[in-house]
Amino acid sequence: MALKITVIGTGYLGATHAAAMAELGFEVLGLDVVPEKIELLQRGQVPMYEPGLEELLRKHVAGIEGSSGRLRFTTDFAEVAAFGDVHFLCVNTPQKHGEYACDMSYVDSAIASLAPHLHGPALVVGKSTVPVGSADRLAGYLAAHAPAGADAELAWNPEFLREGFAVQDTLRPDRIVVGVRGERAEKLLREVYATPVAAGTPFVVTDFPTAELVKTAANSFLATKISFINAMAEVCEAAGGDVARLAEAIGYDDRIGRKFLRAGIGFGGGCLPKDIRAFMARAGELGADQALTFLREIDSINMRQRGQMVELARQALGGGPFLGKRVAVLGATFKPDSDDVRDSPALNVAGQIHLQGAQVTVYDPKGMANARRLFPTLGYADSAAEAVRGADVVLHLTEWREFRELDPEELGREAGVRVILDGRNALDPEIWRKAGWTYRAMGRPTA
Ligand code: UGA
Repeated sequence: MALKITVIGTGYLGATHAAAMAELGFEVLGLDVVPEKIELLQRGQVPMYEPGLEELLRKHVAGIEGSSGRLRFTTDFAEVAAFGDVHFLCVNTPQKHGEYACDMSYVDSAIASLAPHLHGPALVVGKSTVPVGSADRLAGYLAAHAPAGADAELAWNPEFLREGFAVQDTLRPDRIVVGVRGERAEKLLREVYATPVAAGTPFVVTDFPTAELVKTAANSFLATKISFINAMAEVCEAAGGDVARLAEAIGYDDRIGRKFLRAGIGFGGGCLPKDIRAFMARAGELGADQALTFLREIDSINMRQRGQMVELARQALGGGPFLGKRVAVLGATFKPDSDDVRDSPALNVAGQIHLQGAQVTVYDPKGMANARRLFPTLGYADSAAEAVRGADVVLHLTEWREFRELDPEELGREAGVRVILDGRNALDPEIWRKAGWTYRAMGRPTA
């Protein structure tokens, strides 16, 4: 009989995983403790902007006309326990308030709610990003608190999906990593992932700590790559070099690779910043803090970029105070194709400039509602043209396609002064300069 799957936590990760499991042919029951989220999902709607996700959900959510009916939602842990053979844990693990460490309270509470209902054999599969050692602890908890005892097993299966590509990354992952303790867990997970594995996705079997570490190591490496190129941008800036050409040139070496070498205002979002901090905190607990002191530098290079963008804007406005200046900000989300503004470098820069007295007007294709909630005192416009109207300087801070497709000539007629600062190194300087704009980007020569 086909496996039945449950997904606990229906945020970016869980909602996508649930829809993907239904797409692979399984019967799926998703759970969230927030009833409003469940009501939305039951109507085939998602609480965030993620390309392709709503379509995939509607294809499978029971009760929607023409759907496979394989995907249902609930808020009831007893129902989840009775339904599933494999339970995926997809709750979030944010940074603890006032500390670097990871807040495990959602993971712990999900396991505590599920365990007492597990009366028969079950596999609980953690996907959340957790400090190494968590799986071992949680496996012990499960065995002690589930009526099924040792038959309630645990596995760790980290997730590598990127926001904006969540559906594609989940259906066709570039690798599947499973940390297991026994053959039964591995066998079940091979069954769950039979389709992508048959299509060629590597299936890497490890122990618990390695699986947990693969995730934090991958995100640390990505963060390091970005901060490396931003450090090169600082040197280029001082030496009169061009970091975009430098990145292109070193990227042709396929040991280095061209991806994740875009200099600019740096990384943000709900993952990279908090993951490197939680990793440092955990290494400290393990007595291995020296091994990760470099991540402190990665973090500070990254945070410095935001301040440098503010200074670049100040210079563009003549070097004096921001008071009374009009600043247009294009982009609010931490990256394009997402409405996520968590730890967004763009909003951080907009906020800093606003706090120094400028009149800041922000436009973002999808992030407006979230940005407004987080920074209600900033000005907001309904289009790039409206944001730019009368501005003394324009800041390009999230590299949406819509901004690359702007007509510099047309936008120039709206702007008070034709000065654009490209915080993402994503616009074509030539096109903008041709239309009479002063174009500036970090780590790149002036005209
Ligand atoms: C990241 C990882 O890329 C995923 O593999 C991982 O699964 C996910 O975190 C997670 O832990 O859940 P995500 O947060 O969606 O994914 O965003 P990224 O695409 O990694 O971008 C992160 C930030 O780096 C963005 O603010 C982006 O603008 C910035 N970035 C990216 C640069 O500044 N330069 C680059 O060259 C690339």
